Amino acid sequence: MSPTCLTVGPTCDFTLDMRHDEQVCLIKQLCAHLDAGTSVDAGGLRRLPTSDYTDPERAALEWDEFFLKVPQCIGMSGDLLEPGSFLTSNDLGVPVLATRDEAGSFRAFVNSCRHRGVEVETEERGSKRRFTCPFHSWTYDTGGALVGLPKPEHFGDVDRACLGLRPLPAEERHGMLFVHPDPTATMDLDHLLGHWFNEEFSTWDFGEMLPLTHDVYDTACNWKLALDTFGETYHFSSLHKDTLFNSFHGNVQIHDEDGHLHRMILCRRDIDEMRRLPEDEWDITVAALPVYWVFPNVILMPFNGGCFLVRMFPCRDDPGRHISRVTFYFRPEAAKGDDEVKNFMAFIGTRFAEIIRDEDYVMSSSQQATARPGAMDHVIFGRNEPTLHHYHNTYRRWLGEELLPLLSESEIG
Ligand code: FES
Ligand SMILES: [Fe+2]
Repeated sequence: MSPTCLTVGPTCDFTLDMRHDEQVCLIKQLCAHLDAGTSVDAGGLRRLPTSDYTDPERAALEWDEFFLKVPQCIGMSGDLLEPGSFLTSNDLGVPVLATRDEAGSFRAFVNSCRHRGVEVETEERGSKRRFTCPFHSWTYDTGGALVGLPKPEHFGDVDRACLGLRPLPAEERHGMLFVHPDPTATMDLDHLLGHWFNEEFSTWDFGEMLPLTHDVYDTACNWKLALDTFGETYHFSSLHKDTLFNSFHGNVQIHDEDGHLHRMILCRRDIDEMRRLPEDEWDITVAALPVYWVFPNVILMPFNGGCFLVRMFPCRDDPGRHISRVTFYFRPEAAKGDDEVKNFMAFIGTRFAEIIRDEDYVMSSSQQATARPGAMDHVIFGRNEPTLHHYHNTYRRWLGEELLPLLSESEIG
């Protein structure tokens, strides 16, 4: 395979548990668009003020309402493979230390020593049974308990049971790891994932996947501009003409939404061969690539051999900058124990991340540079970009703001 013909890599015997009649229904919708030369239709256009990408007050509000008050995905179960596995995150305002404790449970803590507040663990990920603060060596176990305090006589008869790392609400669901950055909050994944995703995510066996590649991009654009690039395939034949367009049909997609949830289905070129087979052999993981959006900042793209997880985090002091974390997880059975296959999958993961950086985010940075109220007041979302309509109206609804109205062609301009 040529490096520019990016498919989703080796596959395995994994069978998606999504109802087959639903898979056939989605594939038929894609075929109908291909045959008619159409795409999904939002029924009108919307205009978004560019200040949504530039206004510091709005950015502060988003930080408070979307990031500090909502459970955040910090990775997948495969990131914490066994007791002692840990990862840290500084993306959420509060430093997080997440662990797999001795009993195998997912735990999360404020990564701050109870003595004088130093960050206890500074590595991004690894495996250890004890976390020792670098300042005076107070030591904690994987369950956050204080298990070592040098020269304890200087602290008298303090109750060590009260001096463990401060726990954060943490829950592992469908193979995803969620942490709430507010220690006093209640985790509500029933609401965040809704009935729909809570049903559908369980069909993908995310918990079986292992991390393979991690890429981090610090980019001069608002986090929502980065997210927008995942919301349509209209740009594939133009921006990605030498890369993704080799593997995907452009400007053909399905968009389904329910409240703050949406799922987009991208159309792989493998659909052209597959549609000639009897319907009972049709497989959505061959014909298409589902793209799930988990509010506020998570893009999840699962396929037969693994999945891509992309998370965008705002920079608190600069609405025009964000950090993207792009992680590729694979199903071990797809590599079949063969290092060459695994290396090839790692290549796919890295190449995909490079396309995001070198193609999509170049556009996002350009958009940020021109987003000047007074000069460039609004951007337009087309009829074929309903996912963008949904992102931005969901954010507005969450903040109690006026929604972007659906406009006719004559109302634009
Ligand atoms: S600040 Fe951690 S041991 Fe003193
Ligand atoms: Fe793109």
